[in-house]
Amino acid sequence: MSDTSDLFADQAPLTGTRTPLGPQAVVLRGWALPQAPALWSALQAVVAQAPFRHMLTPGGQSMSVPLTNCGALGWTSSRAGYRYRPDDPDSAQPWPAMPPAFGRLARDAAQAAGFDGFAPDACLINRYAPATRLSLHQDRNERDFGWPIVSVSLGLPAVFLWGGARRADRCLRVPLFHGDVVVWGGRDRLRFHGVAPIGAGRHPMTGDRRINLTFRKAG
Ligand code: SIN
Ligand code: FE2
Repeated sequence: MSDTSDLFADQAPLTGTRTPLGPQAVVLRGWALPQAPALWSALQAVVAQAPFRHMLTPGGQSMSVPLTNCGALGWTSSRAGYRYRPDDPDSAQPWPAMPPAFGRLARDAAQAAGFDGFAPDACLINRYAPATRLSLHQDRNERDFGWPIVSVSLGLPAVFLWGGARRADRCLRVPLFHGDVVVWGGRDRLRFHGVAPIGAGRHPMTGDRRINLTFRKAG
């Protein structure tokens, strides 16, 4: 684990630029910066209702990255497998509604990346502490791969691992900063991706955490 707080120095000049990751995949640098405080306060209301929790993998291990959801459907993992469900399994209540600021941001970012009409019904919220990571995977629990994925980074920076169509394909290492938005769809929809271990650091908004919001049309 290394200290990545020095990476913040690189962020400002990137804001407003695009980093292409494929024919239909792009990082919109700093896209969410103007809305970040509103996203953060809406997030507090979501987690008050549906707190972060460590779910079990299908193999029965506790996931190192705690998660929660908002929207009509929430992504869950358990011994029974991965699935979207309308209710929070801990409370048996519906997931919190998707805050309007979340839905707008996802729709606008998708449009800026060339995907019109994106209306996500699911927002998975991951919280990373230093040293935690997310192993390589594809997002393939959704019904229709015709819709893109919109992923918003808040707080501590991360190195996004951006792979190919096969697990063994070489990964690009893409630094992601507070406010960056990654959109992938179409031909790039099923690319393998993950997150390298988060470095130590402190962010003025999130403290020693990285938050990722992943928007999907799941149902
Ligand atoms: C994910 O793939 O579900 C999250 C990616 C990220 O945290 O940037
Ligand atoms: Fe993913």
